[in-house]
Amino acid sequence: STARVVIDPRYRVGPINRRLFGSFVEHLGRGVYDGLYEPGHPTADAEGFRADVLELVRELGVSTVRYPGGNFVSGYRWEDGVGPREERPRRLDLAWHSVETNEVGLDEFVSWSRKADVEVMYAVNLGTRGVMEAIDVLEYSNIASGSTLADARVANGHPEPHDIRIWCLGNEMDGPWQLGHSTAEEYARKAAQTARGMLQLDPDLELVVCGSSMSKMPTFGVWEQTVLRETYDDVSHISCHAYYQEHDGDTGSFLASAVDMDFFIESVIATADAIKAEKRHEKSIQISFDEWNIWYGTRFVEVDRITERDRWPYAPRLLEDVYSVLDAVVFGNLMISLLKHADRVTSASLAQLVNVIAPIMTEPGGPAWRQTTFFPFATTARLAHGVVLTTLVESGTYDTARHGEAALLDAVSTHDPETGATSVFLVNRDQSGEMTVSIDVSGFGDVTVAECVSLYDGDLYAVNDLGNPERVGLTTNETAEVVDGVLTVRLPSVSWTALSFR
Ligand code: AHR
Repeated sequence: STARVVIDPRYRVGPINRRLFGSFVEHLGRGVYDGLYEPGHPTADAEGFRADVLELVRELGVSTVRYPGGNFVSGYRWEDGVGPREERPRRLDLAWHSVETNEVGLDEFVSWSRKADVEVMYAVNLGTRGVMEAIDVLEYSNIASGSTLADARVANGHPEPHDIRIWCLGNEMDGPWQLGHSTAEEYARKAAQTARGMLQLDPDLELVVCGSSMSKMPTFGVWEQTVLRETYDDVSHISCHAYYQEHDGDTGSFLASAVDMDFFIESVIATADAIKAEKRHEKSIQISFDEWNIWYGTRFVEVDRITERDRWPYAPRLLEDVYSVLDAVVFGNLMISLLKHADRVTSASLAQLVNVIAPIMTEPGGPAWRQTTFFPFATTARLAHGVVLTTLVESGTYDTARHGEAALLDAVSTHDPETGATSVFLVNRDQSGEMTVSIDVSGFGDVTVAECVSLYDGDLYAVNDLGNPERVGLTTNETAEVVDGVLTVRLPSVSWTALSFR
């Protein structure tokens, strides 16, 4: 098939906030323990952090990392994880039915984040705790000295404040699975009170109020209205979470997952803007899409979930999805959706980072490797700089069971006014064959293609795993060329492509 794209450096969606390329580390399974932290590993540094994992995190190009949960945070006492290690308690983590040894806590994670060159986004527990504990952890983290909590941090070996700027007011409080799950009204009050207290302590914080856990939640829409009515003055962001998977071999619907992500984002923007009008507010609320990924959640519920009263394992293998080429193509498309809305989605977190539904996998005592999804993330984070351009796409369509009529091509482009580099990210959802795309680049003057890579495979279900960690990777796409202001490129059937020109 064929498709057309029109872009011009003058027509812009908005600047790209680097926080769009964030990720997420939860105390869950082998995300922290036997993931980024493994003191006995041959590459472990003095603090027990795996250097091979740190190197891959830097290569991935992650900007922020949300921590420490997720569902975990709703049962977490932050103070368990600070101070002398030998005095830290062992706790039962009800969310993932595991034992939490607290070997790693806030101070260690901040130390890891400095090594990984990422910004910490910290979530407070509003499930089983409240305003006081949120203010306490903020005081411990951000006040230089002169209070008992700030001085405790100094005594624990961290003389400088952690200075965490962006905080999540709880996690997925709309979900019945959440410890302390509450109604929108209950959560809205608690979130507003917590936000005000936190801002009294540190007025310039950016605060993220919980939106919906997915667009299919029965409370979706009303939840956002209720919490924003109560918290509008004090928060900067509202969260969205979404996970996608292939259901019952319905590849066509799966390939169109970004249609749902677009709908989700646009619905939350509309809702937030309605409250803005109602309140005659100056400020627009931003979206923090702080959990997104492919996740075979049905597999977790049916196979992995631990429920026995007397079994509370340490760092069990949970949610260790192995991603296929098909998964990576859809994943790349989700990044396109986030970028298309960069004027309002100013923070996002790929959930998660290591071992748990992750782009990076590790084996205890053994290697670390890149899953298929690593490639679209790393390449998009590397090439998408500056501003997102209005990207007009004209292609054929196909019918899907889950998302209605979907375009065969999805695409977005970015332009860096400083370097002059322009990038285009494209997904061919066509299962019947390749697609030739003509991109009108006449508005950029005389340009040539600098780079073009594609992710595809004859076997859509090919993966990278311990036995064959480099089976799947990026392929240089030699077909891209510019003639008379038109850039043409051929996209293989079911593929993700990134190109840049200048
Ligand atoms: O990322 C895995 C889990 O998904 C998180 O703990 C939770 O917030 C979401 O339901």
